[in-house]
Amino acid sequence: MPAPRLSVVVTRRLPEVVESRMKELFDVELRDSDTPLSREELVAAMTRADVLVPSLADHIDANMLARAGEKLRLIANYGAGVDHIDVASARSRGVLVSNTPGVLTEDTADMAMSLILGVTRRIPEGLAVMRKGTWEGWAPTAFLGGRIGGKRLGIVGMGRIGQALARRANAFGIQVHYCDRQRLRPETEEELGVTWWESLDQMVPRMDIISMNCPHTPSTFHLLNARRIKMLKPTAVVVNTSRGEVIDENALVRGLKAGEIAGAGLDVFERGTDINPDLREMPNVVLLPHMGSATVEGRLEMGEKVIINIKTFADGHRPPDLVVPGML
Ligand code: DGY
Repeated sequence: MPAPRLSVVVTRRLPEVVESRMKELFDVELRDSDTPLSREELVAAMTRADVLVPSLADHIDANMLARAGEKLRLIANYGAGVDHIDVASARSRGVLVSNTPGVLTEDTADMAMSLILGVTRRIPEGLAVMRKGTWEGWAPTAFLGGRIGGKRLGIVGMGRIGQALARRANAFGIQVHYCDRQRLRPETEEELGVTWWESLDQMVPRMDIISMNCPHTPSTFHLLNARRIKMLKPTAVVVNTSRGEVIDENALVRGLKAGEIAGAGLDVFERGTDINPDLREMPNVVLLPHMGSATVEGRLEMGEKVIINIKTFADGHRPPDLVVPGML
């Protein structure tokens, strides 16, 4: 007799192809609506599931895991970041956690590069004038931004996405620096043409652009804090495509308002959709609604990864993208 199919509960709408494949393989419960589940709905979903497929808006803490019952065995996150899941608590209850690394690397690096260009070349200001129909024609001194070639980019967190951004920045003639707890191998540094800084405090004041590319963990919370924001050059630009929590958003707003930094490009925010309203008003700030991985290809590949993680687990093996607390 074939083994009973795993019951899989998915918390958000996924691309249709992914949902169809899941229906073929698992006993799957999909969502018709695309609103995030409430805390109580999430706990209830966990009690019904062998496998839960959440995404980044689903905060799963120790208390919720304690109420999840005995059925849940795998949390197969649709996404790379797992800062919304208490991975250590899950593991201590025998619940595995997997994610979808790798497939959103290039797309997210593209978005970081877009933000760098968008802020330094004042693209939103140009767009706004064209939308309003108030453009009065070319002028020698209108919309002057900064040239990015020759500038110094400091990448904070040199994982897959940081490295993909370094490759792009090289092509634009930018000098690439980075700070990470772990230094890259000399041959990788050479291939990427990047300079390592042991101290973030030393790197920050010397950069023209700072890009946040580290995951959000307890040790990276507010890594770019008020003190470091004050160290930035007044001409510096900050971009963030990782998680909002790695920057002290209020301190960033203060720095921007005081003219202590030149601009910011943000795809993620410290309090989710509750964005500091001052940010929306600033012409030198580009805001995006967490679109870093939002490509058709990327979202399909994320779905494929989720399916492979569940299927491998169902076949009695370790999911290939298992998250272990020690690596966070
Ligand atoms: C992730 O997968 O964690 C990304 O932030 C989604 O865009």
